[in-house]
Amino acid sequence: MKIIIKDTAAEASAAVTEILLQQIAEKPASVLGLPTGGTPLAVYARLREEFAKGRGSYGSITTFNVDEYIGLSLHDPASYARYMRENLFEHVNVKASRTNIPDGSASDPDAEAKRYEGLIAACGGIDLMLLGLGRNAHIGFNEPGSLHHSRTRRVALTESTLEANSAYFASGAVQPTHAITMGIGTILQCRRIVVLATGPEKAEAVASSVDGVVSEAVPGSALSHHPDTTIVLDKAAARNLGIAQPMELRA
Ligand code: PGA
Repeated sequence: MKIIIKDTAAEASAAVTEILLQQIAEKPASVLGLPTGGTPLAVYARLREEFAKGRGSYGSITTFNVDEYIGLSLHDPASYARYMRENLFEHVNVKASRTNIPDGSASDPDAEAKRYEGLIAACGGIDLMLLGLGRNAHIGFNEPGSLHHSRTRRVALTESTLEANSAYFASGAVQPTHAITMGIGTILQCRRIVVLATGPEKAEAVASSVDGVVSEAVPGSALSHHPDTTIVLDKAAARNLGIAQPMELRA
């Protein structure tokens, strides 16, 4: 696992932005896996800014988002479909028909999960998967206890995740308790994985994922099974690793 530690969250986000821009420059028809949540917002903002300056071409890429809430339509303000449109897709030249997100309003979420898994395979798999890391070390919505060979499926969210994400729901809005997420096995099949984690509230999850025992109790620890994972951190998220200086190293 390659670890990159930057002084600030802004610098860590800039480093991840460069990795994405390099990926689509080298392979214009890249298949990208994309996350939502608070952490990648700065990356999407930078991609928008770079695109406005003429940098980055998305015309041939295909995207697969890692997860979506069950019960939200793609127009719901808290849906990840809307988040992606507002934060990235409407601002760059990506083809809407090549952007994929599990359908949270599907009447049969199990069938939708199977369809999504099949679609990823039909596209030849994902070249680069960008991920955030939950406070409980979840990747996508694979909560602690998820099998490391799990596939895209319907999952129940933990109290910790519901609490962390409640901020994204307007007061009075119903917060879904279930989601469709790519499985850990699905994620591990991606050719390259990049994880961005920033802030002190991620320090424990980072340390247990990077330095801890590989176990189903720590979904992020599954990444050590993968041959090409880069984890990009700010100093605050790296502070429990024992290497708090800005640096790059390959472990
Ligand atoms: P966050 O979520 O970026 O909102 O902290 C990270 C995640 O759950 O993957």
